[in-house]
Amino acid sequence: MALLKIRHYPDPVLKKVATAISEFDDSLRQLAHDMVETMYAAPGIGLAAPQVGISKRLTVIDCAHKDEDSQLLILVNPEIVAREGEACEEEGCLSVPEYYASVVRSAVVQVRFQDLDGQSRLIEAGGLMAIACQHEIDHLDGILFVDHLSPLKRSLFRKKWQKIQEHQQEQM
Ligand code: NI
Repeated sequence: MALLKIRHYPDPVLKKVATAISEFDDSLRQLAHDMVETMYAAPGIGLAAPQVGISKRLTVIDCAHKDEDSQLLILVNPEIVAREGEACEEEGCLSVPEYYASVVRSAVVQVRFQDLDGQSRLIEAGGLMAIACQHEIDHLDGILFVDHLSPLKRSLFRKKWQKIQEHQQEQM
């Protein structure tokens, strides 16, 4: 097990469309477990492989509250096959630290994916898990939550992001 380095915006790997996974071997299992460990350590509720510099269609999600049991999901080659309703929640991202913004998404989604053994599965997610699934699957298509903002909000984001980075450099 190892903690992986989380890439930050504007790292180009975050903009790439990730490739499908076809080999369900020990190296995939190892990567998934390292991503889970990295997500819990951050801490975060979701992490996609491109965020650790690996452009493959794999993401891990756990939306459980601290006092709840783990609800860990490991999604290989996930795709949204049905969606319903609308939800708008404030989101953040481990690749865009210290920045939060509301994003309009579907309220309920059905996600088809493969597990680590390559078995096909289908889940229906609502609430925070629906948001997390959409946010993480976006990562596999090179889309960040800030890409969903209006042009005005995006330009405000870029200014704020510059300030956050200057502040981080001052601290180093
Ligand atoms: Ni994210």
